[in-house]
Amino acid sequence: MISQSFIQELLDRTDIVDVIERDVPLRRAGANYSACCPFHSEKTPSFTVSPTKQFYHCFGCGAHGNAIGFVMEYGGMHFVEAVNELAARVGLQVPVQAETGSGQSDSARAKLQRTEGIEGTEHSPGALLEVMKVAARFYREQLKLSKNAIDYLKQRGLTGATAARFGIGYAPAGWQNLHTPFPGQPENVRKRLLIQAGLMVEGDGGKCYDRFRDRIMFPIVNLKGMIVGFGGRVLEKGEPKYLNSPETPLFQKGRELYNLFGARRAIREAGKVIVVEGYMDVVALSQHGIEYAVATLGTATTPYHIQKLLRQTDNIVFCFDADSAGKKAAWRALEDSLAQLADGKSISFLFLPEGEDPDSYIRNHGRSAFEKLLEQTLPLSVFLFRELSARTDLKSSEGRAKLVQDAKPLLARIAAPGLALMLGKRLTELSGLSEAELEGILKIRRVTAFPVREKPSRPKPVSPYEWLLQILLYHPAYIQKLDRELLAYDQEYEKEVAALVALVEFIDAHPHMGEGTSIPLMTIHFRDSPYRALLEQAASKTLGWDGEIDLEAEFAGAMARLHEMKRKQRMAVLHNKSLSTLTPEERQELQRMAMP
Ligand code: UTP
Ligand code: MN
Repeated sequence: MISQSFIQELLDRTDIVDVIERDVPLRRAGANYSACCPFHSEKTPSFTVSPTKQFYHCFGCGAHGNAIGFVMEYGGMHFVEAVNELAARVGLQVPVQAETGSGQSDSARAKLQRTEGIEGTEHSPGALLEVMKVAARFYREQLKLSKNAIDYLKQRGLTGATAARFGIGYAPAGWQNLHTPFPGQPENVRKRLLIQAGLMVEGDGGKCYDRFRDRIMFPIVNLKGMIVGFGGRVLEKGEPKYLNSPETPLFQKGRELYNLFGARRAIREAGKVIVVEGYMDVVALSQHGIEYAVATLGTATTPYHIQKLLRQTDNIVFCFDADSAGKKAAWRALEDSLAQLADGKSISFLFLPEGEDPDSYIRNHGRSAFEKLLEQTLPLSVFLFRELSARTDLKSSEGRAKLVQDAKPLLARIAAPGLALMLGKRLTELSGLSEAELEGILKIRRVTAFPVREKPSRPKPVSPYEWLLQILLYHPAYIQKLDRELLAYDQEYEKEVAALVALVEFIDAHPHMGEGTSIPLMTIHFRDSPYRALLEQAASKTLGWDGEIDLEAEFAGAMARLHEMKRKQRMAVLHNKSLSTLTPEERQELQRMAMP
């Protein structure tokens, strides 16, 4: 739990323009800034950042939020991670609601002291990150001292500059080397930290020893630029060839990609990312000028990987060896991609000649040969049908039926209508079935044409409820003038009223929210609420408001319209009753209301 007041302080100290500018070049547009939206692909900018209201909004895709929201979306982080990240940038310490109630800050040192002598205590990510940093520095220094390790890297064609760029190091032989870089710490604290960071292993007899020994060390950096794990390669022969960090509070293999952080810029510039299998592949490609490669970490690609990559680029090229393991890995990647693919995004496959991997290929044939291969990748759809066709005999009707059956579960996963249509068409060609027949078999909803973007329907007049929502979001102080009777149940506007009630409750509970900070705070508060969409929509409407709007008059107008609307609704109800069933009070009410 992070307190609202801390979030408020963080937002006060943060300027969303700075935050976004780090990743997206912004251009001034009147009172706001604009850019091409980083969350969907577009040619003309519809992404707007408001410095006064401290939030961003994309009129194209509806992406919307405050500085924290941006860091979450763009960096692929959870809420708490994003808060930590922003806090670090402005030099604030995120207060930890300590389980012990001692209110300790979570700086590495404080944590260290607190856990002194407490076996088994979980260390904070901050302390573990610090450990990783120190260890990485130690490994880098050790590399300089080891002729063996340097020779090995040289023999693999690596320059010193490349090794430095990737922070490559060397874990020396021996079982107890990691004590050296952590002097002056109580031994049990140090051990706990190193074990939790995955750098030491606790043996059966409780004896602890270094996990990585006599290995070339590749630091794995997360999207925030922090080292969260290592991959370690043996110098010559030995098993396992690569040893990776275990899953730790910092590191989940299925979520991280080697070099994604370092490659971000190159990925944007190239408009694509190449996913390869090995650390050395990434490093060698980079040394030969192909900087937009990343690698999975000894695991298959996961949907999470794909999602993370599609946030950075519209174009993923999976590069696999031509052997059967590579084929299998590619097929896994294909299956995981289907649900993630949106129209306008492209996923394709590159198979290298038998016996080559990207590292050997680029060293043997050079950059331009590799780039030629990149121009001839197999689009996902082609790869899909090529594989399915290879499994059956398309000349027989049984074979074609099998093709359809095999394709069925795959097509069912596709969410992108354009892609679904295209693959459906291809399946009719291959199977010889008509679209109608196919549809009967697949029972997939028919997509008749490439979907046209829904035409913007004629703008519905804003209901007075939404009007009030906008004003209260913009300037919560108007709550004092709100006639609370207007919050009564309204069948026609059930959702709007509920959202308004929720908003009023929130404002009541936070009486000191000022103009401007209210929207970011509310965005956070309502991020998981069923009213989120409604509130965000209302908030986005206020983006164009400036000092010239007469809020007082707007507010009075909205209330008056709402009163009038309620009066008409009530009259309709009473009118629909037959006169004989009206109580005397209801008769009077009707008479009163009928008067203008
Ligand atoms: P490869 O065995 O294809 O090796 O592993 P490579 O990348 O070509 O390695 P070099 O060129 O011999 O150095 C590909 C990736 O699979 C993971 C690693 O992430 C490696 O980079 N791997 C491999 C492991 O995790 N453990 C292993 O024992 C082997
Ligand atoms: Mn290799």
